[in-house]
Amino acid sequence: MPMTRRGLLEGMAKLGGAGAVYETLAVWEFLQAPPALAASFELPAASGTGKTVAILGAGVSGLCAAYELDRAGYDCVILEAQRRAGGRSLTLRRGDTFQEMNQPAQTVDFDEGLWLNAGPGRIPHSHVNVIDYCRRFGVALQPFIFASRANLVHSNTLGNGRTVPVREAFYSLQGHVAELLDKCIDRGGLDLPVTGTDVEKLHDMLVQFGDLTKVDTPGKAPSWSYQNQSGRAGIATPAGVATPIKPIGPMKLEEILRSRVWSDWILRDADAYWQTSLMEPVGGMDNFAKGFLRQPLARRAGTIDGLIRYGAKVTNIDVASDKVTVAFEDGGSARTIAADYCVSTIPLPVFAKLKTNLPAPYLSAAANAQTTAAGKVGWQAERFWERDANIYGGISWTTDTIDQIWYPSSGYLSPKGTLTGAYMRGRNAIEFNVKPVAERLRIAREQGERLHLGYERYVERGVAIGWENMEFQLGGWVNEDAATFGDNSKVLAEPQGRFHMAGDQITFLSGWQEGAVLAAQYAVTGIDRQARAR
Ligand code: ALA
Repeated sequence: MPMTRRGLLEGMAKLGGAGAVYETLAVWEFLQAPPALAASFELPAASGTGKTVAILGAGVSGLCAAYELDRAGYDCVILEAQRRAGGRSLTLRRGDTFQEMNQPAQTVDFDEGLWLNAGPGRIPHSHVNVIDYCRRFGVALQPFIFASRANLVHSNTLGNGRTVPVREAFYSLQGHVAELLDKCIDRGGLDLPVTGTDVEKLHDMLVQFGDLTKVDTPGKAPSWSYQNQSGRAGIATPAGVATPIKPIGPMKLEEILRSRVWSDWILRDADAYWQTSLMEPVGGMDNFAKGFLRQPLARRAGTIDGLIRYGAKVTNIDVASDKVTVAFEDGGSARTIAADYCVSTIPLPVFAKLKTNLPAPYLSAAANAQTTAAGKVGWQAERFWERDANIYGGISWTTDTIDQIWYPSSGYLSPKGTLTGAYMRGRNAIEFNVKPVAERLRIAREQGERLHLGYERYVERGVAIGWENMEFQLGGWVNEDAATFGDNSKVLAEPQGRFHMAGDQITFLSGWQEGAVLAAQYAVTGIDRQARAR
């Protein structure tokens, strides 16, 4: 008889006790710890003394590269096309102005103290490098609530459009699946690779997992069915004095399947990067980028922010054997700088249009990168979601264009808060973001009303941003799911002499700040290797 893993473990336990079992499990990597940061990233001290680096772009990746290079003795200058740092890590507050191409400028009119993340909005707990910089810089983090069972889900394929709390769809689905599976094992209908006692345990687990209720029928073996007995899928009448809760009846399996809310919504918090816990900087995501900006320079007075030349639009990159020359426009004047090395974090759709002497295969890899369009709508509103729907953070989902509504994870019970009133990507975003801002706001209002009665009356002072409409971004992020992404990113990550690329765009963490810092660390490591070899 072949030795099973279980058999081997039992043997190990007899021989060596629990320690031996642990060792054996560890060998099989069952107990391997999840990836964590062994030590903070750091280049060898003073390895860059006397060397200069031109960094293109003051987004998270460019700032991280500047911080790490400065600490290692390099002299850096950052060219930034806009009048602000942070790139897509944009937090909107009262008085901020931004402008999409071919659209009027929008000035944020939220009440003082309110803010909305127009770009990245969350930091997964596995993004250890971003969290490590937050720890080093004292960037305070708070929980970002990704999912609350009180959030809503709206489906246009149920009747004329129906909205239910996530808990109703989620736990009803779980209950029905458990009931079906339990029926299969009862009848021996499932060819399971488990023993008789395991079948019993599986049954017990399914009863818990699906909240199944025992149904006794005289003359028949008992069966188990999903009835929402505990009320986890929702309650019709809350508990009161001497009165228990009255659960709602379960949603039918057929309805849940027809709703399609399982396909991309109610199971989202199972995705690797969206599992609890997620975090966000207190007071706005741009506080992460500001952490880099305020770091003092290692060898002279000033901060990383002081290295930035704002309003400098790169026009040409010339890579020679002994230097890199970057041409840029600054307030209408043409200028150039030369440096020993260059790190470009310029988003690929913008980069692909620049004049450079980089080799053709490199440039076609940049031009072939597929960018995902992405857009958001932001509102200020009285906190009707807390008062009327018991929602304290998380995301509601809809099959409509707006796709999602995010609720703030802080400021509970205060008079007003901001909502992300739409967050769409891909085709939805392209169709939506091409419309004038006023039309986008009208649609977002109307579709929000399908989730929350009164929404149209409550939301005010809307803003809309389509990242592909922003001159210096031309997209949300590079699509790492595209078939060509892996090959392209390999080409782009390869240093071209003294030229190095960074940005989340060359990592399989595209669209994440973790990708931005990993790419920066990768680029500065490459520069440092070259500098020391020379
Ligand atoms: N990282 C982006 C998000 O969380 C794509 O939605």
